[in-house]
Amino acid sequence: MDRVALLAHQLRTPLSAINALAQGLIRRADRLGTSDIQAKAEKIWRASLRLDELIDTILSYTRATAGGIVLNPGEFNLDELIRRVCREQGGQEPTRPFKLQIRGLPEIVIGDPILLEQALVIVLSNAMKYSPPDRPIDITARMRAGMIRIVVKDQGIGITERDLPFIMQPFFRGQNAKKLPGTGLGLSLAWYILKLHGGDLEIESQEGRGTKVTMIVPETNTTGLSYSI
Ligand SMILES: Nc1ncnc2c1ncn2[C@@H]1O[C@H](COP(=O)(O)OP(=O)(O)OP(=O)(O)O)[C@@H](O)[C@H]1O
Ligand SMILES: [Mg+2]
Repeated sequence: MDRVALLAHQLRTPLSAINALAQGLIRRADRLGTSDIQAKAEKIWRASLRLDELIDTILSYTRATAGGIVLNPGEFNLDELIRRVCREQGGQEPTRPFKLQIRGLPEIVIGDPILLEQALVIVLSNAMKYSPPDRPIDITARMRAGMIRIVVKDQGIGITERDLPFIMQPFFRGQNAKKLPGTGLGLSLAWYILKLHGGDLEIESQEGRGTKVTMIVPETNTTGLSYSI
């Protein structure tokens, strides 16, 4: 299928859900109880979040490929950023255990906090999307050999050996992931962001068991190079 058609289809999935739920509410509002209305409104809200996320990914990717993502480095506290992002993502799935362990990070890191946050959200939302909602997600962050390593581990569907070499290519989606919504752009964007920082993105996975994604960020060096994706 053509890539644009594929993207349009992806956008349409949450939009159809919003459409159907809203119509149901309009038709049956007078017969529904408060809790039913609340449940439907919550579904509409979640679908709209998904739509927003998709649009965000597509826009960021378009900007990146046009050479438009430039690093805007500054000093920031990575420890705080990781804790906040985990709290915000975890808030979307209150019953899922998030195990966070941060050790020995420098107080100040130089990098682009907005882009690094985006990369972490991409990796975390994959871990959430591709693992059952009751399985824990482990996040660790520590220094090794002058590099900060942020590791996100899930116990989800994993990636097949055949798909693993292609997983960071734009638009590529694993065979076992296709029943779930997605553009296939997230990881390529996260990889690009880490490369801009002079870092890297590593993925290990076992089909049916889980996935471990490591974001490698140098403490201070920002290359400012541009990579094409
Ligand atoms: N934690 C994970 N567990 C299992 N498979 C994963 C995981 N993270 C990524 N993948 C696989 O890598 C593919 C590419 O991931 P990527 O985030 O780039 O795209 P996506 O999740 O399909 O869509 P989107 O970018 O819209 O989130 C996914 O389609 C999936 O097959
Ligand atoms: Mg994704």
